[in-house]
Amino acid sequence: MYANDASAPRRAVTLPDLRRKKQEGAPIVALTAYDALFAAALDAEGIDLVLVGDSLGMVVQGHASTLPVTTTDIVYHCTAVARGLRYALLVADMPFGADATPERALDVALRMLKEGQAAMVKIEGAGEKLHVIRFLVEREIPVCAHLGLTPQSVHRLGGYKVQGREAAAAEQLQRDAMAVEAAGASALVLECVPATLAAAITRSVGIPTIGIGAGVDCDGQILVLHDLLGVGAGPRPRFVKNFLAEGGSVQGAIRAYADAVRARTFPGPEHAYT
Ligand code: KIV
Repeated sequence: MYANDASAPRRAVTLPDLRRKKQEGAPIVALTAYDALFAAALDAEGIDLVLVGDSLGMVVQGHASTLPVTTTDIVYHCTAVARGLRYALLVADMPFGADATPERALDVALRMLKEGQAAMVKIEGAGEKLHVIRFLVEREIPVCAHLGLTPQSVHRLGGYKVQGREAAAAEQLQRDAMAVEAAGASALVLECVPATLAAAITRSVGIPTIGIGAGVDCDGQILVLHDLLGVGAGPRPRFVKNFLAEGGSVQGAIRAYADAVRARTFPGPEHAYT
C-alpha cells in the first residue's frame, strides 16, 4: 500500500523551494530510492528530494562500483520511483560516460525527464563537465552538480577516499563549487569532504548544498537508503548511520532520519571528517 494521502494539503517540492530553504536555513532532507514502495515511504515522511542514484549499481545490482550502471537502468528505476512519489523532487543520476559530451548528455537527460519523470539530473565533476552543465541548463534541464568524492572517478582517485583535505585540493574544490554554480547548476551534492570545507563552500554559493559525509553545515543531507536501514555487509563509512534501531521499523527509520536532519542532530561530529 502507498502511504500517501491524496487529500493532504501538501504540494510538490520545486527547485525554487530548495533555494528558499537554503535562504531560510531550513535543512533539505534527501534520500535515494530505487522502487515505488520505498519512494512512497519516503514521500510519507516529507522527504524533499529523492535521488535515483547510480549507487543502485552497488546496492541493487551487486556490482563493486557504480560504473556498470546504464541509462536504461536509471530510467527504469526512475519510472518506478516516480509512481511512488507525489511530492518529493525526483532527481536522476547521469550514469558513468552518459555525460561525456554535451550532445550525448542531452539525449540521456531528455530520457530522464520524459520517460523517467525526473525534474533534475545529477552530474559528477567540474572541469570538462562545466560545458555539459551549461549545455543542459540552457535547454531547460536542471542540473544538480556533485563534487568531492565522485564515485565515478574511483579509478583515478584510487578508492573511496575523503577529498579536499590538503590546502590545494580544498581550494580547487571551492573553485569548482563556484564554477558549477556559474554554469547554472541548481544544487550541489558534496560527498566526503571535511566539514569545515563543506561549510565554507555552503556559505560561498547561492545554490543549496546537500552533504553526504560533509558535516552538519550543508544546506541539506542525503544518504543511500540501504545505509540508513543498515542493509548490507562489510565495514560502513564513517558518515553512515543505521536509523533502524531507533526508528523501530522501516517507516520509523526514515522518519527518525528526517527528524534528525531537520533538527541538525544528524550528522553528528562522529559522522564528519576533519
Ligand atoms: O548514487 C548515489 O546514490 C549518490 C548519492 C550517494 C549522493 O550519488
